[in-house]
Amino acid sequence: MQKTQPISASSSSGEGLLKRVTRVIASASGLLKAGERDDYLHRCVADFMVVRGEKVLETLLQKAERGEHEAIQALRNALAVNYTYFWREPEHFHILMEHVIISLRKRVDKRGSLQPRVHLWSAGCASGEEPWSMAIAAAEACRVTGLAATIEILATDIDTVALADAQQGRYRDHALRELPNELRERYFHPLRMGSGKIWRVGEALRKMVRYVPNDLLAAQWPVGESGHRFDAIFCRNVMIYLSDSARVHLFEKFSTLLTPDGLLLLSRVEGGMSYADAYFRPCGDAVYLPSAAARRVSQNRI
Ligand SMILES: C[S@@+](CC[C@H](N)C(=O)[O-])C[C@H]1O[C@@H](n2cnc3c(N)ncnc32)[C@H](O)[C@@H]1O
Repeated sequence: MQKTQPISASSSSGEGLLKRVTRVIASASGLLKAGERDDYLHRCVADFMVVRGEKVLETLLQKAERGEHEAIQALRNALAVNYTYFWREPEHFHILMEHVIISLRKRVDKRGSLQPRVHLWSAGCASGEEPWSMAIAAAEACRVTGLAATIEILATDIDTVALADAQQGRYRDHALRELPNELRERYFHPLRMGSGKIWRVGEALRKMVRYVPNDLLAAQWPVGESGHRFDAIFCRNVMIYLSDSARVHLFEKFSTLLTPDGLLLLSRVEGGMSYADAYFRPCGDAVYLPSAAARRVSQNRI
């Protein structure tokens, strides 16, 4: 039997598909203008065609072009880059732990016996390794201070397949390779699956994290509805896939959703982005605090 050759995204047929994918994704995402993410989408489309073939992409595209929501979502899922692992860039989780400790102590001092609340957001959480790691850092903050707190972590992503995996909370050893053993023993349960070992996220963490689908490029976000601000937002390894105008827009929105001393954490490869300057000031490696100007705008909006 003759094997079909995958068509490269740089062939004329590939170029046509790329344009159509860009158009569909752009019209489904309020913020993205056609052409703004061509390099990134080009790579994704080429990978998709190698793995699943042009025919599958064509069928999906035709449905998406007719406005079928499931096909649009399937396209977004297929094109998402979900690479992640627990305790990625560990210094960020140490910073988060310190930040939660300081916030808890301040809130307990102010309100006496009230159980303080801490709000965190993992924006672009992929299959959950990042928000669960944030939950571990927050749980450790409670453990070392001996303070009881309500920790609420919102975890969002555009990819609904990745979110379903995240909700399952089951991971292979490899995903936990950077997590210190002591933390793995404290917050996970080992399960046997065939010859391998699977780690299941424990109840203490499960109570903290809520997974919600969200396109960061959409006009409306399902956050901030209850009126609270976030003590920290992690948006790591997401901005690299977005256009310049989308990045500026995200920085502005994030600055209004953080508490005045709330932290925004990007990945180290994204640190030093000048788009952040109008709204944030750097306070560490890829770690930002809302600038005074952003704080004033944000306070006027309350
Ligand atoms: C490389 S993963 C990063 C995961 C995690 N934050 C980390 O640093 O390990 C990038 C994630 O961003 C998500 N993403 C990309 N564009 C997005 C958008 N417009 N809205 C929401 N999530 C998006 C992808 O689906 C993917 O799961």
